[in-house]
Amino acid sequence: MKDSYRIVVLPGDGIGPEVMDEALKVLKAVAELDGFTFEFEHHLIGGVAIDLAGTPLPQATVDACLDADAVLLGAVGGPKWDTNPPELRPEKGLLGIRKAIQLYTNLRPVKLHPALLDASTLKPEVVDGTDLLVVRELTGGIYFGQPRYTETVDGTARAVDTMVYDEHEIRRIAIAGFEAARGRRRHLTSVDKANVLDTSRLWRKVVTEVSASYPDITLEHMLVDNCAMQLIRNPRQFDVIVTENMFGDILSDEASMLAGSIGMLASASLGEGAGLFEPAHGSAPDIAGQGIANPLAMIASAALMLRHSLGRPISANHIETAISTVLDHGFRCVDIKQDDATVLGTSDMGNKIIMNLLN
Ligand code: IPM
Ligand code: MG
Repeated sequence: MKDSYRIVVLPGDGIGPEVMDEALKVLKAVAELDGFTFEFEHHLIGGVAIDLAGTPLPQATVDACLDADAVLLGAVGGPKWDTNPPELRPEKGLLGIRKAIQLYTNLRPVKLHPALLDASTLKPEVVDGTDLLVVRELTGGIYFGQPRYTETVDGTARAVDTMVYDEHEIRRIAIAGFEAARGRRRHLTSVDKANVLDTSRLWRKVVTEVSASYPDITLEHMLVDNCAMQLIRNPRQFDVIVTENMFGDILSDEASMLAGSIGMLASASLGEGAGLFEPAHGSAPDIAGQGIANPLAMIASAALMLRHSLGRPISANHIETAISTVLDHGFRCVDIKQDDATVLGTSDMGNKIIMNLLN
């Protein structure tokens, strides 16, 4: 085990820098508690990188990530850049770093904390006991397929995106799904649209082939439209969901509401090299700079980094336990505000987590 870790920090836009400050504070505290150190190296990505470096993903950022033990990312995007051409959009930076460091596995755990049973817009008896993991393919599919363009034909605009998967891409994410299920309740739901899409038929075939190596895991195939419905009908039926890039994007936002708020959803993106850890929420430009954003998804993402990239599961547990304790004690941010809760700002929530680490 190392005793010092080099972390590339990409705060990004909107509430990204605010929630990142809290995660770094918590990481420093847990490192002190458990006897190791961090070296944090800040770099540009997204809109702020467009403004300061003329590109959403400067080469210096890519180089630093390739060289790091792990990467932490806040959020990218905002109205300021919404009318930019495709190559100069903040999201391009995020997609670019995922591709550049080959982060093909995205883990999005959705676990309802009992104290947040009433925070969801869904009925408590529906969301009670939710504990699932979305394993999203992150470097393929319609997000990256070629060709893609917008053209004008006979005076009419027309746009093309391409959904493409090769066998190798499906196989490696299927393996990630089965392995994740092995560490949990051994049930894997593979989600596709095999009644319509060729990519999904290949997906189903390859996932079924991979299942031969995992006789201990129960595999179920589910169509994505049905999955969207089943998630809010009976979320307890799910353990691990494995799916392609765009389906995973959509289903994970939907699933986040099972845990009360998207402000609670952490994520880990893993490949062969450094992992990248980011909250699944966006840059929330409407509340940026007000000090009210919920930092818990960013802090929980830092815990995932300790567990998945740094081999520090005990420190990860310290953070996750502190989050539970703080919620149990009735502290909330505005997004998960409940009647009898004490609402904290971003920085006070970070401090509360730290106080409970050291207890
Ligand atoms: C996510 C986000 C991104 C995605 C956007 C910001 C490009 O929605 O991480 O889920 O679509 O992957
Ligand atoms: Mg998304």
